[in-house]
Amino acid sequence: MTRDTLSITDNRTGQNYELPVTDGTIRAIDLRQIKVSEEDFGLMAYDPAYLNTASCRSTITYIDGDRSILRYRGYPIEQLAEHATFLEVAYLLAEGELPTREQLSRWEEDVRYHTYVHTNVIKFLTGFRYDAHPMGMLLGTVGALSTFYPDAKNISDAENRYTQRVRLMAKLPTIAAFAFRHSRGLPYEFPRNDLDYIANFVNMTFSIGGKHEPNKVLQRALEILLILHADHEQNCSTSAVRSVGSSHVDPFSAVSAGIAALYGPLHGGANEAVLKMLDQIQSKADVPKFVEQVKQGKGRLMGFGHRVYKSYDPRAKLIKRTADEVFEQTGLNPKLEIALELERIALEDDYFISRRLYPNVDFYSGLIYQAMGYPSDYFTVLFAIGRLPGWLAQWAEMLGDKEQKIARPRQVYVGEDERQFVPIDQR
Ligand code: CMC
Repeated sequence: MTRDTLSITDNRTGQNYELPVTDGTIRAIDLRQIKVSEEDFGLMAYDPAYLNTASCRSTITYIDGDRSILRYRGYPIEQLAEHATFLEVAYLLAEGELPTREQLSRWEEDVRYHTYVHTNVIKFLTGFRYDAHPMGMLLGTVGALSTFYPDAKNISDAENRYTQRVRLMAKLPTIAAFAFRHSRGLPYEFPRNDLDYIANFVNMTFSIGGKHEPNKVLQRALEILLILHADHEQNCSTSAVRSVGSSHVDPFSAVSAGIAALYGPLHGGANEAVLKMLDQIQSKADVPKFVEQVKQGKGRLMGFGHRVYKSYDPRAKLIKRTADEVFEQTGLNPKLEIALELERIALEDDYFISRRLYPNVDFYSGLIYQAMGYPSDYFTVLFAIGRLPGWLAQWAEMLGDKEQKIARPRQVYVGEDERQFVPIDQR
């Protein structure tokens, strides 16, 4: 007879245990009963970098990394990228359902109403050095927003949480655009509430003297990229938002932690690293030599590999298609040739095949952003704008989950045993 349980024999004691199995998991805390003696702390699971530990139950995003499946609230990413707007996806992630026309208009109106930032935020931004990395500016400024909205601390009130969600969705593009202008020494361009979310952001980055000729194809391409980045379940930055948010800090501080995590080159910073890599390779003829170096352990092929996808990242597939539409408008990015050759060689090479390393979302996104006119140190900022709805939805889900507590992993201590202090002149 089969049962949804796991039988464990502890060979240290000969004792048998039966642990319930639910949704393909055992509860790590159930291991604690397995002890060699009464004083024993009990067995723990050791899982550096959470390779095989589910930290929550979630209804937001489903990924099947072997079958290249990504769904938000059950909707395939391919359909959302084709039919939805970014704000519609943000609503879906937060509320669990696609909005009706009325719900969407209210959501869009609310976001539009909050696009301006306090003028002191502008003073704060101008204090950054002329060459400040825009991600540093973004994470510092979003963190600072908590001082402008002390009411955001009231995280147990649903209406208050909604207000902060609206504020973050509305103000992040404004701050991001100001950071873009800052590095160019351009005056900040204020939000225009007659434009939609994407058009307003593009206008704030590129408008000169109040003028900008909008390109609808490029704007839709940017919107698709943001949709593709909107959530990706328990990735590094989302785990950071959940973990920091679990201390019940305000959402500005929690999101700022997410931006910090995203900044790293192994996460959102990979799109910037891809462009640096393509610059370093210089020409198509140099690709085989570069791949050989990677195989010898000298660096990584940036934009390749993923913790979850062990087949082609479905987002990379959609991005490749978007790239064609963008390059039709902007002319071919010369680095595309190198990227395509890298992909071709890597996908035929046993090193990459055996490790199941495929292009990820970041492999082609940088080339598109560059063609749109964004510099490489700005790519991760665009990723952050895209990921914000996911962070907010996951943060709210964490707060509403009765099983969650302050995040506090255990450790296995392997350091020195107790020893006596040595005065400095005797060391
Ligand atoms: N180039 C060359 N070898 C690689 C790469 C790569 N990009 N990624 C993994 N490997 C090798 C790695 O050396 C290891 O080989 P071995 O078994 O011989 O030691 C094996 O593949 C497994 O790698 P891992 O580091 O254990 O895999 P992970 O799941 O911990 O890392 C990753 C996932 C995304 C951090 C990693 O693949 C990587 O560093 N990729 C490059 C950076 C990148 O593109 N990041 C963007 C990820 S997608 C967007 C996002 O989430 O932000």
